Amino acid sequence: MNARKLVVIVASVAFAGCFAAKKALPTQADADRGAAKFPGYTLAELNQGRGLYESNCGKCHGLKKTTSESEAEWRRIVPAMVAKINKNGKVLDDHSQDLILRYVVTMSKR
Ligand code: HEC
Repeated sequence: MNARKLVVIVASVAFAGCFAAKKALPTQADADRGAAKFPGYTLAELNQGRGLYESNCGKCHGLKKTTSESEAEWRRIVPAMVAKINKNGKVLDDHSQDLILRYVVTMSKR
């Protein structure tokens, strides 16, 4: 396979990945499932968390699937990643970190 063909294939896969991530829009049922863990949790907060996740968590590596980690893993990973993001100055505050954590835990479905 020539290099040009490979570039097209890689670009298509990356592009398709973007659409796959966008398709999984949170629903009220997701928010209700999250509220069992985080009392008073709303769909608006779930969507805010999703926005923060998508704009901050795909910069160094691709956006990870929320289903790729368990709740316990996310609770370890999210603070570590936010620390990386904040290394050269605060980008995400505690509230934003919490919104991201609640989003990935709720959408981990485990
Ligand atoms: C500054 C670059 C950077 C950003 C931004 C970043 N990550 Fe990472 N991430 C890494 C690196 C480097 C690794 C490799 C493992 C490590 O260093 O912990 C990693 C690994 C991971 C892993 C696999 C970890 C494991 O232990 O298996 C997950 C999941 C992850 N990141 C999620 C996130 C989330 C969620 C965010 C947003 C809050 C995020 N990343 C933002 C650099 C980044």
